[in-house]
Amino acid sequence: MGRLFLFTFFVVCNISFTLAYYYEKGPVKSLSKCPGYYCGRSLIEDGNNSTMWSACSSCPRGSRTNSTSACTECESSPTVYDWMYLCFMVLIGLLAQWYCIDSMTPSSEFSLKTFGMHVSALIETILSACFSLLVHEPYGQLSLKSCAVVQLSDWYTVLHNPNPNYDEVLHCAQEAVYPLYSIVFVHYGISVFLLFTIRPIVNKVLKNKGHAASRTIYAALYLFPILAFIHGITAGLIYYAFPSIIILLSLMSHAFHFASRTDQSWRALLYDTVSCVHNLVVVIGHWVLHGFGLVALTLWLQPELLAAVLTLVPLPTLLYIVLCRFTDPGKFHSD
Ligand SMILES: *[C@@H]1O[C@H](CO)[C@@H](O)[C@H](O)[C@H]1NC(C)=O
Ligand SMILES: *[C@@H]1O[C@H](CO)[C@@H](O)[C@H](O)[C@H]1NC(C)=O
Ligand SMILES: *[C@@H]1O[C@H](CO)[C@@H](O)[C@H](O)[C@H]1NC(C)=O
Repeated sequence: MGRLFLFTFFVVCNISFTLAYYYEKGPVKSLSKCPGYYCGRSLIEDGNNSTMWSACSSCPRGSRTNSTSACTECESSPTVYDWMYLCFMVLIGLLAQWYCIDSMTPSSEFSLKTFGMHVSALIETILSACFSLLVHEPYGQLSLKSCAVVQLSDWYTVLHNPNPNYDEVLHCAQEAVYPLYSIVFVHYGISVFLLFTIRPIVNKVLKNKGHAASRTIYAALYLFPILAFIHGITAGLIYYAFPSIIILLSLMSHAFHFASRTDQSWRALLYDTVSCVHNLVVVIGHWVLHGFGLVALTLWLQPELLAAVLTLVPLPTLLYIVLCRFTDPGKFHSD
């Protein structure tokens, strides 16, 4: 028994010895591979007017390790899907603010003051998004230089610090999706700043006084840290799931909008939609959101189907109007 144990121990040691990960520690003259997905070497000057490669570590901000473990600067620009993701994060902030304004102002009917606050939130959001783009490379332009997103773990590099041979952990955490992760924090930060500078002026001009005016500002002060926290933890999941999230939410809210009408016959549904501007705006708003989600989803899965998929945008409305008479709960009682 003892011998068998020793033998097994010996074999295991041997295997782990042959599997031991070999890499050159410290700076090297010629480029050699690093362990882990995100560790790389950057070019450094040695004292003798020549260059060499640094020890394996995280790459400087704005660069990413290539397949031979050299830190190379990211020169690509965000894909359409990346832009849609950023739009989604901006949109979430705006919709949440609008929701706060709606639910905190005393009367639910249309008023110029409430409308003014909606417009103010919209302008703050647009300005903040523009500022966030301007302060990122290329500076002073409404465009971005970014690293390409390859896989989910790119958003969670801190969980992928390699521990070669179990002796030392290499700290290679970095923003591999630069700047898609940090720019959202920057945007929310600037939004809060603009909220403090623009909203009081708007409130003064519109003569919004008292609780209603200040409560929407306080609400936003809770809102943005919460959004930033959610983004900080779930950014990678949201990046892949936002098309489905937006399609689901728009479908649910769309059905809710139609279900809350009093007359459920298809003529009335159709007539109310076309004749009332408010209903028309709500329905078209849902189509835009739904189309946004569909486009993002097809871009991610099957870009060549884009045109065909866009014809599906009004489908939920048609289906609701055509099928609602079959789902009348009264029918089940009479049967
Ligand atoms: C610079 O060159 C000298 C002479 O060739 C050598 O002794 C020294 O180690 C070199 N320094 C570095 C940092 O490579
Ligand atoms: C580096 O090169 C410059 C000019 O090429 C020279 O003046 C300087 O002495 C060199 N330094 C070293 C450490 O070799
Ligand atoms: C990685 O970057 C280094 C330095 O820029 C370059 O020499 C090498 O060819 C690159 N490797 C690949 C696979 O692109």
